[in-house]
Amino acid sequence: MSGSIFIKKPLDLLMKEAGETGENSLKRSLGPVSLVSLGVGAIIGAGIFVLTGAAAAKYAGPAIVLSFILAGIGCVFAGLCYAEFASLIPIAGSAYTYGYATLGELFAWIIGWDLILEYAFGAATVASGWSGYFTSLLQDFGIYIPPSLMATPGADLVLYKGHWQLLSNLTDTLKTANVDPSTLQHASGVFNLVAFIAICLVTTVLVIGIKESANLNNAIVMLKVSIVLVFIGVAGYFVLHHPEIASKNWHPFIPPNTGNFGEYGWSGVARGAGVIIFAYIGFDAVSTAAQETKNPQRDMPIAIIGSLLICTVLYILVSGIATGVVPYGQLDVPDPIALVADYAGLGWMGRLIKLGAIAGLSSVILVLLLGQSRVFYSMARDGLLPPFVSRVHPRFRTPWLTSIVTGVGVAIFAALFTVREAGSLCSIGTLLAFVIVSVGIIVLRVREPNLPRKFTTPWVWFVAPAGAISALLLMSALPWPTWRRLLVWFAIGIVFYFCYGVHRSKLAQPPTTDSKPATGG
Ligand code: ALA
Repeated sequence: MSGSIFIKKPLDLLMKEAGETGENSLKRSLGPVSLVSLGVGAIIGAGIFVLTGAAAAKYAGPAIVLSFILAGIGCVFAGLCYAEFASLIPIAGSAYTYGYATLGELFAWIIGWDLILEYAFGAATVASGWSGYFTSLLQDFGIYIPPSLMATPGADLVLYKGHWQLLSNLTDTLKTANVDPSTLQHASGVFNLVAFIAICLVTTVLVIGIKESANLNNAIVMLKVSIVLVFIGVAGYFVLHHPEIASKNWHPFIPPNTGNFGEYGWSGVARGAGVIIFAYIGFDAVSTAAQETKNPQRDMPIAIIGSLLICTVLYILVSGIATGVVPYGQLDVPDPIALVADYAGLGWMGRLIKLGAIAGLSSVILVLLLGQSRVFYSMARDGLLPPFVSRVHPRFRTPWLTSIVTGVGVAIFAALFTVREAGSLCSIGTLLAFVIVSVGIIVLRVREPNLPRKFTTPWVWFVAPAGAISALLLMSALPWPTWRRLLVWFAIGIVFYFCYGVHRSKLAQPPTTDSKPATGG
């Protein structure tokens, strides 16, 4: 070990890396529209299509709207800090690189390790949801995949109303319908081939090119946003024409607390925000495309803040309408938005909503995997991961090897493991990155006040601490087992760092060593 584990990466070196061109560098082809679309692509997914229902039913009631507003404000604070960093240090590593520049190598490694929770675990979680929606839509059209290939090993599936479904998703429905599960036909999952194939297809596109990936993402985003807008239009029309139903369902707007922290009342609003923060995860992934952006100084802030604001407005409308149409207690189902459409007499929308969810989840997987490969790429260029990870394909100009290894790893994980905690691990990991980026902005403002910043976080002395504090508060609303898993994850990461990264770090090498970055096909 030749350098300090707290060594910081000099900003002029980062600026030089950001300006590299040629066949061994990533291709700069993204403009503002594709970037906003990447943000929306990563944000709208399982959070709004699945989690909203349970969060309203169990924690916040109709005040889930307030939870969305609170979580949205917290994300905008963090988003403003990301925007300043991404325009100043337009490098693919995102929070990892910002941490390297401001807090030092060990912190940077920890953040890079932490981002695996957000991007890789996030993609695996969302892929399981994707497979559920996809097989359900196929079954609507009479196409049946063997149930053993629809779920992870040992998962219990039952045939109910002509659809193979996970028993765990149906427990409440069966109870309400007075159906004894033992009377239904059962099957066991062996390998979730559907999730596996979905991730492999997305990975193929990511390898072929950033432009191709962005184009596919644009198409998917157009589809899912249109479906969300159709839902808002027609279900909103229902609410406007049945104000008596909506005002009954919205009253009381904040149901009284049951006496337990987090079950309704203001503490329920806070816990609801902690759960639905998952719905906002992904806007930060835009910053991992900074090295593939034509004009990152101008476009990164537009994309990060723009995509966040668009999604916040959509979320407030969808959750407000959902709780206006259906009594909140009944929303705890795997497909709450389809249930709302049913209640509003819009049964025909059910399949459209499934299609919207499939599109939504596809682009989330795409952008999260994109983010993961770019963070690994940056870590390998710094020597903290093996050099092959940063190889750029000479024709496609993508980090192809790391994209394939990451994609296949995530695909196998999603096919074999049901990690119930993966969603909350993904949330806690993301929130921690928000804390570090918000703190990092302050550190850099103090250390380097005169840098030529193209975008500055407004009211930074309020916004950055508020970003860090709100992320910490949301983290504190997550249960202790999630914290314990986070700590175990970090312990594993630190062992890796001291076994490999600390000895190979390029920055820590004596200046005489060749410090040329490891790229090349
Ligand atoms: N925000 C993404 C989703 O809700 C992770 O699926």
